[in-house]
Amino acid sequence: MSATATRRVYLLAHPAGHSLSPVMHNAAFEVLGIDAHYEAWDVLPQDLAAAMNRLRAAEVLGANVTIPHKQAVMPYVDELSEAAQHIGAVNTIVNHQGLLLGHNTDAAGYTRALEQAGVQVSGQNVLVLGAGGAARAIVFALLQAGASLALYNRTTQKAHDLAEAFAVLGDITVIDTPDDIPDDAPDNLYDDLYKVAKQASLIVNTTSVGMAHGGIDPDVSPLPAEALPEAGFVSDIVYRPAQTRLLREAAQQGLGTQNGLPMLVYQGAESFAMWTLEPPDTNVMFNAANGVLEAE
Ligand code: ATR
Repeated sequence: MSATATRRVYLLAHPAGHSLSPVMHNAAFEVLGIDAHYEAWDVLPQDLAAAMNRLRAAEVLGANVTIPHKQAVMPYVDELSEAAQHIGAVNTIVNHQGLLLGHNTDAAGYTRALEQAGVQVSGQNVLVLGAGGAARAIVFALLQAGASLALYNRTTQKAHDLAEAFAVLGDITVIDTPDDIPDDAPDNLYDDLYKVAKQASLIVNTTSVGMAHGGIDPDVSPLPAEALPEAGFVSDIVYRPAQTRLLREAAQQGLGTQNGLPMLVYQGAESFAMWTLEPPDTNVMFNAANGVLEAE
């Protein structure tokens, strides 16, 4: 490789269609005058090993990893960060002279997003909705920052499994409800969820409920408006649409709100700094992402 060859960063994904990361990162490279290019790479699961090998090439700075490869790449990296180990997923790979380092910047990105909104996590009473991959990163971020956590998920067992996996970092109260709700279920079935939600100072939606995808009606909320607290903050990882029903109802009740775009931008900013050793201009990244979202 010549000293002036364009550096590469890849997004390993399947499918690779809708990501905002290429425009965000390429805009950030451009303003810093870094000769690098970020590109989405559609990698089939059976081609993952070969793709990982390609990341060791000298011109490759690293990669992002997304659905469905975030767990699958873990055996192929040479080293895992503490966050990646706890979260059980890698979203960022750094190519350090042919050695692949696996990181997870979702948690740091989420904490930064909340800080930007003026929310100090320490001491918050948090209700987390959902127990999937995104929940794991957010739970890790919140526990590390010293919040008290309650967790609710449609499939209760997954909430218990997540709480158990993170027990070394802190206690999580799991809100139990049956997964299959019978027609003759009592009216007070969700009392515990309502009670916890009403007392929460921060509510986080990590589920895909409210997301616009595949023609499914996005005007649904993972939490009834009546359960929202009198004061506090509601954060939603969804950013398509920009304002979910949950955030709209929270704002109508005077609560602070934030959608998922700041988390996306700041996880990207954390990754960018790992690849280039330079912090990107996050305003440039926001503008690039918003440009795409507004054109949709
Ligand atoms: P991600 O990596 O984005 O978190 P995931 O691991 O598939 O994706 O998790 C999706 C989360 O959204 C889960 O908590 C899921 O609940 P279940 O564990 O019960 O499947 C939640 N979710 C998705 N669709 C939902 C719906 N219609 N109602 C309630 N929760 C839903």
